Amino acid sequence: MSTERQELIFILDFGGQYTQLIARRVRDLHVFCEIVSCDTKAARLAERAPKALILSGGPASVYADAAPTCDPAIFELGIPILGICYGAQLMATVLGGTVEHAPSGEYGQTAVSLSESSRLFRGLPSEISTWMSHMDRIHDVPPGFEATAATSVCPVAAMEHSARHLYALQFHPEVAQTTAGTQILNRFLFDIAGCFGDWTMENLVNGAVQDIRSRVGDKRALCALSGGVDSSVAATLTYRAIGQQLSCVFVDTGLLRAGEGDQVEATFRGHFGAPLARVDAADRFFAALKGVTDPEQKRKAIGSTFIACFAEQARATQDAQFLVQGTLYPDVIESGGPVAHTIKSHHNVGGLPPDLSFVLIEPLRLLFKDEVRALGRVLGLPEELVSRQPFPGPGLAVRVIGEVTRENVDIVRRADAVVERVMRRFGWYNKVWQSFAVLPDVHSVGIQGDTRTYGRTIAVRVVDSTDGMTADWVRLPSEVLQELSQVIVSEVPEVNRVVYDITSKPPATIEWE
Ligand code: XMP
Repeated sequence: MSTERQELIFILDFGGQYTQLIARRVRDLHVFCEIVSCDTKAARLAERAPKALILSGGPASVYADAAPTCDPAIFELGIPILGICYGAQLMATVLGGTVEHAPSGEYGQTAVSLSESSRLFRGLPSEISTWMSHMDRIHDVPPGFEATAATSVCPVAAMEHSARHLYALQFHPEVAQTTAGTQILNRFLFDIAGCFGDWTMENLVNGAVQDIRSRVGDKRALCALSGGVDSSVAATLTYRAIGQQLSCVFVDTGLLRAGEGDQVEATFRGHFGAPLARVDAADRFFAALKGVTDPEQKRKAIGSTFIACFAEQARATQDAQFLVQGTLYPDVIESGGPVAHTIKSHHNVGGLPPDLSFVLIEPLRLLFKDEVRALGRVLGLPEELVSRQPFPGPGLAVRVIGEVTRENVDIVRRADAVVERVMRRFGWYNKVWQSFAVLPDVHSVGIQGDTRTYGRTIAVRVVDSTDGMTADWVRLPSEVLQELSQVIVSEVPEVNRVVYDITSKPPATIEWE
C-alpha cells in the first residue's frame, strides 16, 4: 500500500507489550505509523522522511547483556523523538545520562507531578494519574535535558530537551489508565512534530487503489474469498482498483456458518458485480473427512482439499499473475525495518502446486482488524459481513468433535446461528472476540415432554481477546446464558443439554480442535 505521500511516524520496537497499542493510539489520532525493528538504521528511517519517532517500552534493562539498542544517529536526525519507558531509559543512556536499578519498581496506577516549564505537558494539570510498569529508572538526565515530571519514588518520571525535540516518559501514555495519555500523544504529534492528522479511511482507499492499479497494470489477479471480513475487504479494494481484471474464487466447503455462502455470493456477484466463481465443494470435503476424527488430520484433509479446489479454479482463470490476500498487520510486524513491499510465497493459500506461482497483493498488510472493519464500511460492504466475528479457516469442522458428518455439521451450524442471534439481541455480539457453539462427541440422557431422550450436547464458548493469542472466558449475565440454553434446545431438537465453557486460553485454546 502506498504510504509515501502521507505523514508518517515510525515506532521503534524494543519488544514492549504495548507497542501495538502505541500504534493504535497514534492511528486513532489520524496519523499513520509503522512499527519497525529497534535497530533500524537512522539513514534507512530518514529515506521515508518520518515526521517523528517513538521509542517503545521493552522488558530488558538498558545495561543488560544484549539489551536491545538503537542507532545513536537517530538522535541527530533533527526530528522529534518520544521515548516511552525502556525507550526513555535508552534515550537517557545513549545521550550521556544514567539509569539505575531501583530498589523497588513502580507498577500500576501512579500519581505523577508535572513541571510547569515542560513543553510536552503544556496545558495539563500539575498532577496526573499514570500507568507505570518499570524496575529501572533514570537517575541523571543527559546534558541539556530537564527533568519534567516526578513521582514519590522516581525523581525523573519524564525529561525533555525541547530545543532538540527530544522527550522521554517513564510512564505509558498509550494505556487508557494514564488519564492525560491521549493529550500527551496529541501534543507530541501535532504541536511538536507538526502532524496534520490527515490519515483517513478515504485517503487510505485512494492510496491503496492507486498502488494496486500501478502494480497490476493490465494483468489479472485472483482472490480466494473465504466469507470472512479480511478477504472480503481485500477483494473489494482490489475490485475498486482493477474491476473486471479481478476474479474471485469462493470455495464453499460445506463447513461455513449459516447463510455465509449465500451472503458472499450476494455481496460480490450482486452488489459489486465482481466476477465470482462459486465452487460447491461440500461433497469433496465430506468425502475427505470421512472417518477422520483426529484434529490435525482433519485440518490436513481440509487444507489439501481446499488447495486442490482452488488450484483447479486458478488454472481455469487465464493469466492471473497476482494473488490477493487479506493478510493483516499483526501477522506482518517483524524485525527488519521499514521494508518496502516484498514478494513472499503464499501462506494463506499455502502449498499451491509449482505451476501456480503468483505475486502477492496484500492491501491490508499495514492494518489492524478494526481498521479493516472501518475500511469495509467505507467501501460499502454490508454491516453484517463487516462486523462478523473471526472464524477459523477449517470452519465448523473444528467445532465438531469426532467425525465430521453432514448431520453433525448441520447440528452445530443451527446451534451456532442461535448463539449469534441471541448474542446480537442482548448486545453482546460485538463486545466479545468470539461466541460460538461446539458439538462434543457426547450423548446424554434428558427428558423432553414426557419422553426420555438420549441426545446431543452443545457447548457454548464465548471469549474475550485482543489478538487471539490469549483469551478469557466471558462472564455472561445469567439471563443471556438462560436464553442461549433455552433457544438452542427448542430450535435444535437433537440437543438436550447445553453447557458453558469456562476455560481461558491458556490452558485451553479458543477453538476445541
Ligand atoms: P485457537 O483455537 O488456536 O484460535 O486458540 C485462535 C484464533 O484463531 C482462530 N483460528 C483459526 N483461524 N485458520 C484461521 O484462519 C485456522 O486454522 C484457525 N484455527 C483457529 C480461532 O477462531 C481464534 O480466533
